[in-house]
Amino acid sequence: MNTILLRKDYGSCLPHEHLFVTLRRQSAFSIERADITSLTKHIKRMKKITIAIDGFSSCGKSTMAKDLAREIGYIYIDSGAMYRAVALYAIEQGIFQGDQIDTARLEQEMKRVCISFHLNPETGRPDTYLNGVNVEDKIRTLEVSARVSPIAALGFVRQAMVRQQQEMGKAKGIVMDGRDIGTTVFPDAELKVFVTASPEIRAQRRYDELRAKGDNSVRLEDILENVRQRDYIDQHREVSPLRKADDALLLDNSHLTIAEQKAWLLKQYHKATNQEA
Ligand code: DC
Repeated sequence: MNTILLRKDYGSCLPHEHLFVTLRRQSAFSIERADITSLTKHIKRMKKITIAIDGFSSCGKSTMAKDLAREIGYIYIDSGAMYRAVALYAIEQGIFQGDQIDTARLEQEMKRVCISFHLNPETGRPDTYLNGVNVEDKIRTLEVSARVSPIAALGFVRQAMVRQQQEMGKAKGIVMDGRDIGTTVFPDAELKVFVTASPEIRAQRRYDELRAKGDNSVRLEDILENVRQRDYIDQHREVSPLRKADDALLLDNSHLTIAEQKAWLLKQYHKATNQEA
């Protein structure tokens, strides 16, 4: 019998990943070639959609967006990573003078900022590249975290990022997470989710995460204060403030387990693609 063995792991964004996903759902890792042909035809007919996941900081958006994209074989884009990459560029090029940003210079240099994502075969997830250099770790440092908010508030930075994000989503089959994806980047997305959790719960999660990494100097009340501050900045900035799109589904994950959240999200995806389980 002519059988083809399929690898169990997947994680890139290629169309054939749909095949792995569908097969995984059927719990079949070995199938006949004829089945593959008909399955491929079926998959081609499956409607690809755009999924926008927005919400407050530290509520697990990226993890859920990444997991969903992997499960359904979609491209995953972390739009926050793009703003972080611009902040890193500004730091490295001396565009910050203390807390002040030389906005005229940054605006002039924006055309030199090239951000891309490439699949990391080890993690199965996309890494962020700035002008051809892998900056995935650098953009997660405290220094970048502390400087990214004012960069993300600049209109010309947002315009450039939104343009790139819309380009990335042209072919659909994309899950993008951020703050303005359902409202500004993809206002026509077929599935929009707005994620939230109480500030206390988000602060506790962040605290546990940092403690697990060995940081014993953190204080829960400081983190809670930081969460509240970031919520305020995100919701009150002039350009594209964080808000739930009218047609977004609200997901308060304060009391949900990761598994419950994942099941809920998959159900919404199946509804949006008319494949209700
Ligand atoms: O999600 P994050 O913490 O990596 O986001 C980094 C910063 O970018 C944060 O200040 C919020 C901002 N951001 C934004 O303004 N719009 C987005 N679509 C994504 C992130």
